Amino acid sequence: MRVHVADHPLIAQKVTVLRDERTPSPQFRQLTAELVSLLTYEATRGIRTEKISVTTPVGPADGVALSHPRPLIVPILRAGLGMLQGITDLLPTAEVGFLGIKRDEETLEPHTYANRLPDDLTGRQVYIIDPMLATGGTLIDSIAYVLERGALEVICICLIGAPEGVAAVEAAVGDANVTIVLGSLDSHLNEKGYIVPGLGDAGDRLFGTAN
Ligand code: URA
Repeated sequence: MRVHVADHPLIAQKVTVLRDERTPSPQFRQLTAELVSLLTYEATRGIRTEKISVTTPVGPADGVALSHPRPLIVPILRAGLGMLQGITDLLPTAEVGFLGIKRDEETLEPHTYANRLPDDLTGRQVYIIDPMLATGGTLIDSIAYVLERGALEVICICLIGAPEGVAAVEAAVGDANVTIVLGSLDSHLNEKGYIVPGLGDAGDRLFGTAN
């Protein structure tokens, strides 16, 4: 597994405003979209392409197109939905599937309640999007699910991660073809499983407190 923590002043500035408890939902959603686009740029460095040629008004030019099968984006419901616009802005031809995984507030264990993904993911590059990599339970389940169905590679894009979560995912996936891209790697998890300093509950900050 590879871990890439973004190192760019624009990403750091946007993460700072996201963290601020005074940032209202509309601005939080807009900033999330911008941040995800920047992280997608980093996360797609290995996206599969094939050579094509086009004709400009001046003459022939060599170029590239995204390869088939198309990349698959998997937002983890509900907070991952807030990241969808930012990634589809850069990957408009990607397909989108959905996984609904909720944490039990007592045990912090993940529980799958929705699944809209193709059964066969052979040869696909899968981009899992979930804002907060906390205990890692949700990501571990999601990664296992897509690898079992034949995914070639899994790239997880998270706004903020905790060292405990990164270590848990690494222990679970071993040397599988998995990359985690983070906007920030924070200090630790608190006793309620929240990332410190983090930004609070990402789903609530994106969408309000309705469940
Ligand atoms: N989920 C969140 O939304 N925030 C955290 O800090 C941890 C998990």
